[in-house]
Order: sequence, then C-alpha cells, then structure tokens
Amino acid sequence: MGIGEPRHAFPDWVGEVLNAHLHEFNSYPPNDGTPELLNAIAGWIQRRYGVPVQLDRQIMALNGTREGLFNAALALCPEVTRSGAKPAVLIPNPFYQVYALGALAAGAEPIYVPATADNGFLPDYGALDPALLDRVEIAYLCSPSNPQGAVASREYWADLIELAERHDFRVFADECYSEIYRDAPPIGALQVASEMGASPERVLIFHSLSKRSNLPGLRAGFVAGGAESIARIKQLRAYAGAPLPYPLQRVAEKVWADEAHVDHNRALYVEKYEMADEIFAGVPGYQSPQAGFFLWLPVSNGEDAALKLWRETGVRVLPGAYLGADADGANPGSKYIRVALVAPKQDLQGGLRQLRTCLYG
Ligand SMILES: Cc1ncc(COP(=O)(O)O)c(C=O)c1O
Repeated sequence: MGIGEPRHAFPDWVGEVLNAHLHEFNSYPPNDGTPELLNAIAGWIQRRYGVPVQLDRQIMALNGTREGLFNAALALCPEVTRSGAKPAVLIPNPFYQVYALGALAAGAEPIYVPATADNGFLPDYGALDPALLDRVEIAYLCSPSNPQGAVASREYWADLIELAERHDFRVFADECYSEIYRDAPPIGALQVASEMGASPERVLIFHSLSKRSNLPGLRAGFVAGGAESIARIKQLRAYAGAPLPYPLQRVAEKVWADEAHVDHNRALYVEKYEMADEIFAGVPGYQSPQAGFFLWLPVSNGEDAALKLWRETGVRVLPGAYLGADADGANPGSKYIRVALVAPKQDLQGGLRQLRTCLYG
C-alpha cells in the first residue's frame, strides 16, 4: 500500500486495438499526437468541462503527466531574472516530487506552501508576500490532490487564476486524479478560466490515462491550455521529448473516447472509500478523501508508524514526510502516513484492518 500504482483492470479491448495497429511500429509517430488522438482528447475536454479547444493549437499528447509537468516548467520558465530577482515556482507542500525537480531544473526557486488540515489541504497562495508573487512564473496545483484527496472548488480556482492574472504567472493544474471521486466530478481549472473569461494562457491542465483507465504502463496523457504556451512546450518536446509510439496513440484515442470503464473503475474506488470509512471510524483526525486513491492518516510520527507497521504486520505505507519538504522549520507531512487504496478489495481490507489495530488500537 506504499506505491500509488493503479491495479484495477484496464479495458479488455485494449489488446485488440494494439494488435490491429502493430504494423505502425514501422513509422515514426507524430510528436504532438495523431489528429485522431487529439480529436478524441478535445472531445473528452468538451464533454467533461464544456470547454472547446483547438486540437492543433491547444493540446499536446504526452508520455504520461510526469514528463509533461517537468518539461512544461523547462519550456515556460526560462532561466532569466523575474522582477529583478530569481524566478519562483509555487508548490503545495506536501507534493508530487516532479514539481520541485521541474522548478530546480529550470533554475527557479521552489517555494513550498503548506497544504494542511487548517487550510483544507489546499495551499493559500494568495496570502504570500506580493513581492514574492511578482517573481512567480508558475504555480503548481494538484486537484484532486495527492496525497490528501482534497478537491479545489470553483472559488478556489477562480481566486488562484485571478492571482495569476494580477501577478502575471501561469497555473499548472495537475488533474491526473480527476476521474476518481466520490459523488460529483471535480471542477477543472480550464473550465473555471473559461467561465471567468480569463486568458487560456493562464492555465495548463495535465491529464493522464494512468489513473483514469488503469494504464500507467501505457504512458499516455496530455497537456491543454493556451496556444502560445502549448507552442512552446511543443517546441521543446520536438527535440527533447519522446513521442508516444503510433500503436499506443491508437489505443489512447479509443480509451479517451470510452467512459464505461471509467465509471466502473470509479465505483470500485467508492466501495474502497466506504470500507476505509468503516475501518477508521472513530480514529481522531481521520478524514475521508474527497477524491483520488490515497488515505492521508494522522499519526504522531510518520516514519516511526510506517516502520512499526512494516515490522509488526508486513504492511507497507509511505511516511508522509517523504512527500513533503522542510519549510520554515517544519515538514507538513511528518505526522502522517500515506496509504494507497490500489490493492484488490479483499487484500486491502486485510491490510487496512491490520493498520488500524497496529497504529490506533
Ligand atoms: C500527483 C501526480 N501527478 C502526476 C503523476 C504522474 O503520473 P503519470 O505520469 O502516470 O500520468 C502522479 C503519479 O503517481 C501523481 O501522483
């Protein structure tokens, strides 16, 4: 339960599609995505968020979101001074490690902003010093968030986009957990930007088939947003990126067009949330995730708890501090463990029960 690797089944027709296109391994694939794949992605964005995007100018196919989140920082955060000082990149703390690596590789200063129970596990970027905000090139935000499963509301996104307009920075919305939720689909950053009439250049959204469709090994995702931002990412990736092989682009095209398997997958996670809520009922500070597939459980010391659990039960979880950075003398993950709800339900139930008994009595 330590690693967030999706383990539910992917659609059983994936093999057939792959097989039908094997001969295309003979050809160099288009870097930006086949027109058919981009069309399927644009259709998905329109259905999911009600936002029309131009497929040749506003979307780029990615090899999963990880490389996109990194490369977009390189493409859009040139190593120059910003307001007479080093450019800054805002990162929620705790966070997906690639955000920090993207910032550092681009020569920017990562600014770790606490996302704790006190602020609903979403960083309060608006409370930062305006002089610092003037140095910001990029603000990463993960919604639904890994590790806490918090969902940014329409109001949260609107405030962040307005802040980005005021201080002239871009928002990188990591929405790779967007399809795994309890009741209502999480609102998206591009959707809010469009409703507000904000420039699409303010926001880039990053999506993936890894979680939505249980295909982390396919390495298929996309980035969408303003045409100018996408052009700069395309330019970098035309040289430094690895395009998705043709047959895999064909598979991704079909997978984005199908929702039946996504609904089924979500229902399995909802059963797991319910199971976790039952097992952890009465644990002080337990918060059921709104979305995503992790539990973020409070303990007195995350490393000690993970070690005790491993030694006494063989159940492995991640100490929360490993997902956080020390900032202002504190690591906001240090009193948590992260538990991935990816295992088959029976195994997960056994593991969660052992965890409850071992750590909470
Ligand atoms: C928050 C977050 N963003 C991005 C990724 C990257 O996933 P992928 O590259 O498979 O789309 C992960 C993977 O675990 C993640 O947890």
